[in-house]
Amino acid sequence: MIPDVDNDSIVYLNGQYKKLAEATISVLDRGFIFGDGIYEVVPAYQGKPFRMKEHLARLERSLAALEIRCPLKAADWQSLVANLLQQHGPGDAMVYLQVTRGVARRDHAFPVHALEPTVFGMVSPFTPPGVAQRTQGLSVITIPDERWLHCEIKSVSLLGNVLAKQQAVRAGVDEVIQFRNGFMSEGASSNIWAVRNGELLAPPRDNLILEGIRYGFMQELAQAAGIPFSARPISREEVDSADELMLTSATKEVLPITRCNGKPVAGGQPGPVYAALRAGYDAALRSL
Ligand code: PDD
Repeated sequence: MIPDVDNDSIVYLNGQYKKLAEATISVLDRGFIFGDGIYEVVPAYQGKPFRMKEHLARLERSLAALEIRCPLKAADWQSLVANLLQQHGPGDAMVYLQVTRGVARRDHAFPVHALEPTVFGMVSPFTPPGVAQRTQGLSVITIPDERWLHCEIKSVSLLGNVLAKQQAVRAGVDEVIQFRNGFMSEGASSNIWAVRNGELLAPPRDNLILEGIRYGFMQELAQAAGIPFSARPISREEVDSADELMLTSATKEVLPITRCNGKPVAGGQPGPVYAALRAGYDAALRSL
């Protein structure tokens, strides 16, 4: 039995639906041995996945980057997710999908013979951010980005992100903002946004960040709200003196960052650009 989870919840593993506590993989799975796999986290509201098409497209991009064969067609992913959500019942949920290269003798390079990728899916309950987080905002610390140079792949090799998030926990804050060579990259499990002079800024979509599904969505929301947007390197000084900071992720949606390294961000209150984007996000969820 695994503590802190619903051991009877139904998960998908390699073509079968079974109880979480009964779903097991080989110790030689390359996901276990090397972190050789990828994943997705799709939020679902009242049984409806949000931005599913975009999540599946990113899953395929991650697999292609690692030269892992995509084991299911888009329609099969969709029915897998629909089945898991149906098992979960009403209520907001988070769908987790993972694909690893499969099981083979331990050897670093890709096995020469064709492998059957390991496919795993589960759904857990998810509580969208409430009033307190939306109005008070989140606190962060800044840390050096010590991760590898392929952050654009949504890989399960997440040790750099795990260690970064643990620094946030030790500091008693919600998230970190990582910097590489003096420029902002992202959080441990979120994208970070700055606002300066009314303009929404994000780091470029390159190998130094994971392009969140909310990255493109925020661009759409900004455009609809008439907020100028620019993707460009953002310096440490620009973050320190930003008018607003915010973060996005599947589970945090969009939330304001109101404290950074123990000091208030601008006035320490969520700003007007956040309010406009949050309103757009809520409207999209309402029309889901
Ligand atoms: N993480 N950057 C990193 C490093 C992330 O881990 C995530 C999301 C994001 C935001 O991506 P999206 O908007 O697609 O959620 C950016 C998920 C939620 C996780 O690992 O649980």
